[in-house]
Amino acid sequence: ATAQAASEMPPIPEVDGPVAEGDGNDYTLKFSIGTTQSGAQYRGLEYFEDIVEARSDGHIQVELFHSAQLGDDLQAVSALQSGTLEMTSPSTSPLVNMFPEFAVFDLPFLFPTPEVADEVLDGEIGDRMLETASTNGLKALGWAENGYRQLTNSQNAVASPEDLDGLKVRTMQNPIHLDIWKTLGANPTPMSFAELFTALEQGVVDGQENPWITIQSSKFNEVQDYATESNHVYTPFITLVSERFWSRLPEGYQDLLSDAAKQMGDYQREVSRTLNDQIKQELMDEGMNITELTPEQVATFQETLSPVYDEWREKIGGELIDDIRAVS
Ligand code: PAF
Repeated sequence: ATAQAASEMPPIPEVDGPVAEGDGNDYTLKFSIGTTQSGAQYRGLEYFEDIVEARSDGHIQVELFHSAQLGDDLQAVSALQSGTLEMTSPSTSPLVNMFPEFAVFDLPFLFPTPEVADEVLDGEIGDRMLETASTNGLKALGWAENGYRQLTNSQNAVASPEDLDGLKVRTMQNPIHLDIWKTLGANPTPMSFAELFTALEQGVVDGQENPWITIQSSKFNEVQDYATESNHVYTPFITLVSERFWSRLPEGYQDLLSDAAKQMGDYQREVSRTLNDQIKQELMDEGMNITELTPEQVATFQETLSPVYDEWREKIGGELIDDIRAVS
């Protein structure tokens, strides 16, 4: 199924743009991500590699690593800070301890459509956040998407908060996600993504939540019979480069990396959105029991989660939430 999905991905665009002005030196850029080689994120990285290698005339060699081979999201970010890795593109959620503003993206049902997410991330709010994240040894270059998260589990179909009673759900290492699942009556366990498949297989946790693409490419459907199209959180990916590497590059190559990160982000979002429904259908065809929530069922989840909003509104700052809401 993964190979079939890959063949229906939008083709990688031709590289367009002039050769960047370098300094005659050669550079190696290792780019590592947590998701697998068959997902939309890796496909975006392949486009990034094409752009950077062609437009640096081979002076920047890009090496791609997937499936947390060089560490999970948090470990990859620390590797950027210490200068042992050049680039990564984590979900924003595990970074909230470093950048508290990012917590806004973890609020449930914040972005009603992907287009609203694009407007926020590619607009003034997203630019401001890229600046905020350009500190502590990091330089933030742009946005891509992990996407809308869906719940899967091994126990029962979930159509209402009651169905979650006591369910052990793995969450990302993020306090709002913990609150969400506690408030819904589940029993959340924060855990690194790298440990998740084994934890699901061995029943250490009953469920997890991630976009359809990640559910399929990480083969969670092999150990999870049930899924709910909950769309409860839209998670952005933020593209980061090590400040140590960045500061060694001539300006022409810095501009090239910025351009390439933006082009990658646009293409990766297109791939992610093209594959999303296709993969949901494939998972259903393969026998996964997928519950599609009615608008009334979604409203019940939203109402149950309103205390999470009230609590985090104070901590995150109401103004930022209102600015984002004004875009919708
Ligand atoms: O579930 C997670 O930890 C994240 O969604 C993932 C898959 C590592 C991507 O950042």
